[in-house]
Amino acid sequence: MKALVVGGSGYTGGELLRLLLNHPKVSEVGATSRKHSGRYVWEVHQNLRGAYDGKFSEYKEGKVDADVVFLALPHGQSMEHAPRLVEKGVKVVDLSADYRIGDVELFEKSYVKHKSPELLERAVYGLPELFRDDIRKADLVANPGCYPTAAILSIAPLQKFKDSMDLRVIVDSKSGTSGAGATPTESLHHCEVAGNLKPYKVTGHRHQPEMEHILRRMMPGLSVSFTPTLMPVVRGILSNTHVFCDFDVVDLAEHFGDFYKGERFIRIVETATTKNVLCSNYCDISVHYDNEKDRGLFISAIDNLVKGAAGQAVQNMNLVMGYQEDEGLAELPYHP
Ligand SMILES: NC(=O)c1ccc[n+]([C@@H]2O[C@H](COP(=O)([O-])OP(=O)(O)OC[C@H]3O[C@@H](n4cnc5c(N)ncnc54)[C@H](OP(=O)(O)O)[C@@H]3O)[C@@H](O)[C@H]2O)c1
Repeated sequence: MKALVVGGSGYTGGELLRLLLNHPKVSEVGATSRKHSGRYVWEVHQNLRGAYDGKFSEYKEGKVDADVVFLALPHGQSMEHAPRLVEKGVKVVDLSADYRIGDVELFEKSYVKHKSPELLERAVYGLPELFRDDIRKADLVANPGCYPTAAILSIAPLQKFKDSMDLRVIVDSKSGTSGAGATPTESLHHCEVAGNLKPYKVTGHRHQPEMEHILRRMMPGLSVSFTPTLMPVVRGILSNTHVFCDFDVVDLAEHFGDFYKGERFIRIVETATTKNVLCSNYCDISVHYDNEKDRGLFISAIDNLVKGAAGQAVQNMNLVMGYQEDEGLAELPYHP
């Protein structure tokens, strides 16, 4: 099959290329860029030197010759391209936020005016562990945000307790700086980030409505209070979710294990850490309970560029194309 990465010069675009070049079912990969059109891809993504001799091209709608197109673009840009691609019969996996929130008003409150709201109902939220059957039938997959991936996977198993738990949950997450993309900014300058833990958008981050919107499908009335912090590392998200509930009656870790039984990319571990998932498509989750305080703490760790973006996008492509879900995603995390 042929795949095209639109926005191939960015961080998620580069990660998609790395994964697709090793995918057994992908015979041809193309990449577009406005800035780097005509240059070899390896000149921008130097890790791909010797592995890929393709050049960036400019995106031209009429010239798209691919079975699957990945839109690795900023929000507001994917909606410029997705409608005509879908109309053409191309399968689209969008890494931006453009089709993640099915409620146009809610989307526009956090992002921009939507240019193709008619596609919102058709788009499927691409979190395979929860919505696999719908993804298989989709032609437009909205790949989840990185923070929402980590948070939703750690909260979804609690739907069993939705009638007894306090539905106001707190999600406190830390992320590496690649989460902000490849464009340099003052706040991402080495001197600002190194040796620093920097909370930002402490209330009102745009991933919070996405978390609530998706989780409310399973747990109506759930409210998420979300605070992200920038960590002085390149990759990784660690998400701590605090939930108050009298969970005494069950073995919570066992419950999580049962909920995700057979899931190739979810591991229930003693203590989730970012290091143990880096460069892989795993989401590690650890389950903790403070009996005296009735507090559940669910820690999830992902690589924001893999399970939080490109790896999950390939997982979605596999489902849409009818391939084995883990094809091309066998990379194990590194240690130490
Ligand atoms: N980074 C992460 O960890 C992560 C995780 C989950 C989801 N996402 C989402 O994935 C998308 C891509 O993120 P990223 O981190 O890869 O961003 P990035 O590094 O900034 O890359 C964005 C790409 O889009 C292209 N681009 C920028 N503005 C454009 C425009 N107006 N029209 C067409 N192309 C444009 C750029 O290429 P040229 O300028 O060369 O054309 C670049 O290749 C974003 O929506 C982001 O929110 C990112």
